[in-house]
Order: sequence, then C-alpha cells, then structure tokens
Amino acid sequence: MTDSQQGLAGVTAADTALSYIDGEAGRLFYRGYDIRALAGQGSFAESLYLLWYGELPSRTALTVFEGLLAAERKLLPDLESVLRHIPSSATPMSALLTAVSVLSQVDEDAAYNDLEADIGKAGRIVSMLPVCVAAHHRLRLGLDPVAPDPNLPLAADFLRMLTDSPPDKVAAEALDTTFLLYLEHGLNASTFACRVVASTLADLYAAVSAGLAALSGPLHGGANEQAMRMLDEIGSIDRVGEYLDRELAAKHKIMGFGHRVYRGEDPRASHLRRMAEELDGMHGDPGTYEISRAVETAMLERKGLCCNVDFYCASVYRSLGIPLDLFTPLFAIGRSGGWAAHVMEQHRDNRLIRPRARYTGKPERPYVRIDQRND
Ligand code: COA
Repeated sequence: MTDSQQGLAGVTAADTALSYIDGEAGRLFYRGYDIRALAGQGSFAESLYLLWYGELPSRTALTVFEGLLAAERKLLPDLESVLRHIPSSATPMSALLTAVSVLSQVDEDAAYNDLEADIGKAGRIVSMLPVCVAAHHRLRLGLDPVAPDPNLPLAADFLRMLTDSPPDKVAAEALDTTFLLYLEHGLNASTFACRVVASTLADLYAAVSAGLAALSGPLHGGANEQAMRMLDEIGSIDRVGEYLDRELAAKHKIMGFGHRVYRGEDPRASHLRRMAEELDGMHGDPGTYEISRAVETAMLERKGLCCNVDFYCASVYRSLGIPLDLFTPLFAIGRSGGWAAHVMEQHRDNRLIRPRARYTGKPERPYVRIDQRND
C-alpha cells in the first residue's frame, strides 16, 4: 500500500447507485438529484423514499410512506425499561448502541435479510432512533419519556419528545433539513463499517450498530459536537486567531474542517451556513454564527481548508436548543437511512468484504520456550 492510499484514500471498494460525490466541483447527488435542490425544496422523508425505492415519491406515495414511518415510532416497554437501567455515566451515543440492541431483540424479522424484511427493519430503525435519543435524554434528567405522536413528522416529533412541548415549525423544518443533509454520503467510515458487517450476512441491526460505533469518533460524526465545543472555548471573535495559531502549532486538527473527498467547499456546508445565519440566536445568545464565520475565514487563510458538514451544523443545532452531546446522535438519526440503503444494496449483491493487509512485521523466527527466555 502506498502512503497516499493509507486509510484507503482513493480506493474504490464498492459499487453503489445511491449517491455520487463530485469532490472537485463540490457537488453531491442522491440518485442523480442535486443535494441543493433536495435540501432546498424537499424533505428528509422524501429523500429517504428516494434512496430506498429508487425514485422520488408521488404525493400519495409520500403520505403513505410518512404514515408507515410514524406508525413505527413507539415507546416500547422493553426499551424504556433498559434505558432506565443503563448507568447515568452513559453517553447518548453509547445509550443509542444499547437501544439498537434492544430493538433487534424485540424484532421478529431481525435475522431475515430479504428485501421485504430489510425495508421493514429500515423503517423501524429510522423511526425509533429519535424515540431512543429523546427517551434516554429525558431519563438521564430524571424525567419520564414522552410518547411519540404519529400525527407529526419525524423531526417535529423528535423535538416534542425531547422537550414535552409543541415543536416550533421553523426549528422542526431546520432539523428535518439537517437529517436530509446527513442522510447519505458514499463510503464514509460508518457506512463502510455497515457494509463490511452486512457482507458477512449479519442483519441490519448488527450493521447499524457498527455504523453507530464508527460514527461516534471525533474524526467522523463526533466532529459536530467537538466543533461546538471549540466555538464555545473560543467565545469571541477577537480570540479566533490566537486559538487557531495555538492549536495548529500543536498539530491539532480543527474539528469541522477538511474532508477526504471534497477539495473545495462541501455543498452541505454551504446550505448549513445559510441556515446558521438565519437561525442564529433563536435559542440563547446570538453570535455563534459570527464566530463561526471568523473561524472559517481564518482556517482558509492559515491552512487553505474549507469547512465540512459538521461545522455549521454545530451552530444550527445550538440555535435549535439541542443539548451538546445530542449533536452526534442527531447525525446518526439522519445517516441511519443511508446506512440502511447501503445494507440493502450489499445484501442484494453480496460478496464478503475481506481485503488483505500488507505485512510489515518480523520475518520468520524460531519459537523460544518460556524457560529459555531472558527476564
Ligand atoms: N485541521 C487542521 N489540519 C487539517 C485538518 C483539520 N481539520 N484536516 C486536514 N488537515 C491537514 C492535515 O494536518 C494534513 O496536513 P499535513 O499534510 O501538513 O500533515 C493535511 O491537511 C491532510 O490531512 P489528513 O488528515 O491526512 O486528511 P484525511 O483525508 O486523512 O482526513 C479528515 C480527512 C476529515 C479526517 C480530516 O480533515 C480531519 O480530521 N478533520 C477534522 C475532523 C472532522 O471535521 N471530521 C468530519 C469530516 S466530515
């Protein structure tokens, strides 16, 4: 393996009809549709339908699909009971991993990988992750979970289940758009992890668990939370330069910047920047957007690096009043639809994913018995 291929950079490891990233032009397409059009005019449910069924839904098909998703949101007694007993030190991402295990244990179709079973499970997973995140958050605050309302769209219902108050329309629409923007992005680390697990013919729940684990790291989904922590630490525009100079001199990565595939602007970041500006100060003090802009300009000057999806999503989630450690679980909710679509693709045309490693260790040597080894 050459140095430039470390981390499988530039390696094509699967065929997919789900999304296409043009890293040079900074463009992203879901099944041929430009993400800018989908995010500007469509909804998360519509893009989910597009990924899972291959075409945009008619109005009737979308209504039926949204109804099916809503019917899958349930406060399951087994789930609530387990969430009540996990340690209070559990992070929301580790709680979500536990919750996905429970969901698999109560699903009669868990072990079946045919298309019908996979689609059914995909709907249950995407619908239930918001229920799990909201219920765990309330339980750790000593509050009872709020039961889902099937009459609301998924993002609006998540906000209601989190706060036990009617969701704000602007906030619900903004959250829905972030789910759409997070939905699918080729063979990113978590999606690749899902496909590797699915290629063993393990089921969708097992694959999604692997996806969640991969997403939790700060170089992947954890970056939105870390970007917000950085903005909080910087605190004001006049501290941006000093902060970045110190961190870059220490060779620390600046969270929310850089990308393996995009050479210029990440198109999702462009959309989120506009949203961050519009929503700034909706909850709490305004100003996160201005600091974010200053960090963005300074990173371009110092490193020539553009921000990625996670940078402005952090400001958006702050403006929506989302608790900091729920930022990455929200990424997981959106991306779970993409993970499911990839698992369905893998299960339909499967071959075990099993690459080779280049051996860099010692050459063959004789075994020395333990009583003949030096202490
Ligand atoms: N902050 C500072 N420098 C960065 C950087 C960042 N966020 N991202 C990349 N660089 C620099 C590296 O230090 C390296 O510089 P060098 O050649 O002088 O050593 C160069 O850019 C290449 O970086 P590398 O880590 O090899 O790129 P990659 O393709 O392996 O990594 C990421 C891509 C996304 C993992 C990386 O940009 C990163 O860690 N970003 C921060 C985490 C993040 O936002 N993740 C979410 C991604 S959507």
